Amino acid sequence: MRILAIETSCDETAAALVTRDKEASFVTIEKSVVASQVDLHKKYGGVYPEVASREHIRTLLPVISEALGLVPETGRQLPHFDWRDIDALAVTQGPGLIGSLLIGVQTVATLSYVTKTPLIPVNHLSGHIYASFIQHAPDTAVPRFPLMALVVSGGHTMLVLMRDHHEYELLGQTRDDAAGEAFDKVAKLLGLGYPGGPEIGRMALQGDRHAYDLPIGLEHEKTFDFSFSGLKTAVLRLVQQQSQPLTQEIKANIAASFERAVIEALLFKTSKALDTFAVRHFVIGGGVSANRYLRERFATFLAHRVPSVELFIAPPELCTDNAAVIGASAAFMADKITDPLAVEAFARFPLVTRG
Ligand code: KG4
Ligand code: ZN
Repeated sequence: MRILAIETSCDETAAALVTRDKEASFVTIEKSVVASQVDLHKKYGGVYPEVASREHIRTLLPVISEALGLVPETGRQLPHFDWRDIDALAVTQGPGLIGSLLIGVQTVATLSYVTKTPLIPVNHLSGHIYASFIQHAPDTAVPRFPLMALVVSGGHTMLVLMRDHHEYELLGQTRDDAAGEAFDKVAKLLGLGYPGGPEIGRMALQGDRHAYDLPIGLEHEKTFDFSFSGLKTAVLRLVQQQSQPLTQEIKANIAASFERAVIEALLFKTSKALDTFAVRHFVIGGGVSANRYLRERFATFLAHRVPSVELFIAPPELCTDNAAVIGASAAFMADKITDPLAVEAFARFPLVTRG
C-alpha cells in the first residue's frame, strides 16, 4: 500500500510518500518533504494563524509535487507519474489551527475526488505515536502491543494505552499547559527565540540542572494527569526575583532546572502508569520527544526501572510535525476510507475520550 500523506495542522506544510507491504508491521518512507514556516512566525514569537493559512495555500501544491518527484531538477527528466500508483491519500483532520487544517483537508479531498483515490483522514496525535512504526533504518524494530505511549507536543501531553492498532485508552493528560507549550513560554520569559523547545534544550546544556528546585505538578495525586502551569509560574517568579538583567549563566541554570522539572514530571507519572499496566513497549512521540535530555533520561529510567519494557522514540526529525507519520498512521487504518465530499476538519479532536 502506497500512501500520499499531507500535514498542515500548524506551521509546517508537509507531504510524504510512504509504503506498507501487505501485513507488514512497519512503514517505510519513500520521500518526505517539510516546508517550515518558522522564520515567518519568529517575529510574532509564536504561530500567527492567519499567516500560517496563507503560507499553506502558497506552499502546499509545490510541496506535494516535490513529494511526488514532480519538481524538475537540473538535467533530470521528470519521472512518469500516474495517480493509479497511489493507493490512498491521507490527511490530518485535527486537532490544530482550523484555517491551516482546512487547507490540507480541502486540497486532499479535491485530489481524492478528481483522481478517485481513496481518502483516509488522520488524527494528528495518532501520527506522533505512529512515528515509531516507521522503519527509518534497515532492520530497526517497531513496537508491539500492548504498548503505552506518551505524547508530548506543543498542544498536548497525554499517556495512552494501546492494545492494538488505533485502539486508545486514555490514562492521563495535562489539566492546563502542554509540555511543549511550557517550553515555549519559558523560552519567552528568558528572552530566547521561537520555537522555545530547541532553544531551551541548547541553553540547558551549559546550565546546572539542580540550580533551582522547581515544582512537579500533581505530584501528590493518584491520577496519571499532568500539570505544567505551576512550573511556568514558578519560573516567572524566579525571573522577576532577579535584581539584575538575566545573565547567560542564570538563563542556562533556569533552562536546565526547568528542563529537569518537566522531565521529572513526565517520568514520575510514567513510572506510576508502568507500575499499574503491564505493557511490552513504551513509545514517546511529539515535538518534545526530540529533546535530548528527555531521550537520555527515559532511556536510563526504563533500562534501570523496567528493563523488560523497550523504549521507542523516532529520530528527532520524525518527532516534530511531518507528513510521513500521518501516512504511517493511515497505513494501519485502510478500513477508514471516507467520502471526500463529507470529510471535515476539527480544531479540537480528541484521540480518545477518557473511558
Ligand atoms: O509535535 P509538534 O512539532 O507540534 C505540535 O503538534 O504541537 O510539537 C511542537 C512543540 C513545541 O512546543 C516545541 O517547542 C517543542 O515541540 N519542541 C521541543 C524540541 N523540539 C520541539 N521541546 C523540547 N526540546 C526540543 N528539542
Ligand atoms: Zn504535532
